[in-house]
Amino acid sequence: QMRNALNALVDTVKDPEAQAKFENEMDSFFALFRRYLTDKASGTTLDWDKIKSPSESEVVLYDSLKSETADNLSKLAVLKLNGGLGTSMGCVGPKSVIEVRDGNTFLDLSVRQIEHLNRKYDSDVPLLLMNSFNTDADTAKIIKKYQGHRIRVRTFNQSRFPRIFKDSLLPVPESFDDELDGWYPPGHGDLYEALISSGELDSLLAQGREILFVSNGDNLGATVDTKILDHMIETGAEYLMELTDKTRADVKGGTLINYDGQVRLLEIAQVPKEHVEDFKSIKKFKYFNTNNLWINLKAVKKLVESNSIQAEIIPNQKSISKGNSEFNVLQLETAVGAAIRHFEGAHGVVVPRARFLPVKTCSDLLLVKSDLFHLEHGALKLDPARYGFANPLIKLGSHFKKVSGFLSRIAHIPKIVELDHLTITGNVTLGRNVTLKGTVIIVCNDGDKIDIPNGSVLENVVVTGNLTI
Ligand code: UTP
Repeated sequence: QMRNALNALVDTVKDPEAQAKFENEMDSFFALFRRYLTDKASGTTLDWDKIKSPSESEVVLYDSLKSETADNLSKLAVLKLNGGLGTSMGCVGPKSVIEVRDGNTFLDLSVRQIEHLNRKYDSDVPLLLMNSFNTDADTAKIIKKYQGHRIRVRTFNQSRFPRIFKDSLLPVPESFDDELDGWYPPGHGDLYEALISSGELDSLLAQGREILFVSNGDNLGATVDTKILDHMIETGAEYLMELTDKTRADVKGGTLINYDGQVRLLEIAQVPKEHVEDFKSIKKFKYFNTNNLWINLKAVKKLVESNSIQAEIIPNQKSISKGNSEFNVLQLETAVGAAIRHFEGAHGVVVPRARFLPVKTCSDLLLVKSDLFHLEHGALKLDPARYGFANPLIKLGSHFKKVSGFLSRIAHIPKIVELDHLTITGNVTLGRNVTLKGTVIIVCNDGDKIDIPNGSVLENVVVTGNLTI
């Protein structure tokens, strides 16, 4: 039934070239769908007792890596995962076009980092962006301004797969050009196939680029590190995953395990309910995946061409409206780190926390916009006063969920170098030049409003009610 439905979709494409491309895409989707059904039927889950912490040779400490050289930069290309939208932060369009600092978007900062690298080492490392049909047009607008700069920015699109109805398991779209919410980008695990089908992988290999440094578009700490690059080349490992120490705040992140003598990524979605607490333990699973990955391109080619990459499928349920009704739909996704087990010599490198600086919420945005960091050639550097300390724990309430709500209430970012913990709930606004120190809690009741005046210094205080201090 699914095969017939996909064939019918292919028949709706008129242009022969576009049809061939779309047919390939639907073949890949069909393979993923079939694997989903088989896995579901066999109920394959991991045997918890076989899960071991990775062995010493499977996790290398960053500090043990030897001194850096720039010798291997001619073999490197950098890729930012850029297929995702900023919906969770209330933005329409790609997340990477959110302004982070001094008028720079995530994309601008990535470009600046690579431009600086190329200037510093007189290298020509290209920057690739893996876009999706959701992000391609908006991204093109931003990167247009980099034509003529000392950087080669290349973009390609990942696959566009049909969402399926949860009940019938049949595709939602009825034709190739059906509404956008019938389709989805199938997760960053699509990278391997998209690199091949776009022709980018062959073109990189032809330029002598052997290693791809991949990271999330919103991770501002993921700069090129020549020590890690040299380590990869020296060890001949086909795949490195940057890990960092897990704290109680990161208990949901995927972790590296040894399973049947092989390194694997273990995600919370794969953990049986009765072991979730065990999974969250920061003793047994000390590190988590930053999604900064170093991948050998020849190995990718070999694995994709032999159909060997079988990353765990993550079914993601959504609800969409069609006509006047709401439908539950599924999108079958995979994660880029899950392929680690297929690569020879794959291992983890435990890196400093500074290499993992993601922006998932407006609380994270407050951090990266603040005086805790300063910009150095597109990279965020921590204020030396905070070296060795964890970043402040910031919890902003629902009024600050969307970037627009956040910016309208905190138009001027407070000084937070001496802050440990901030909680703000309710309709609160901060004036100019506010300084926050220690633990600050501001709780405004429903229907009330709290305005923190210009120049306030709040240190270890709780502000509540309808107070204007
Ligand atoms: P996610 O949405 O997966 O972030 O996007 P997350 O919720 O933090 O999950 P993980 O744990 O990091 O996986 C991570 C990066 O992957 C890109 C996004 O644009 C973002 O940069 N992405 C996501 C894609 O490129 N394609 C996709 O289909 C999904």
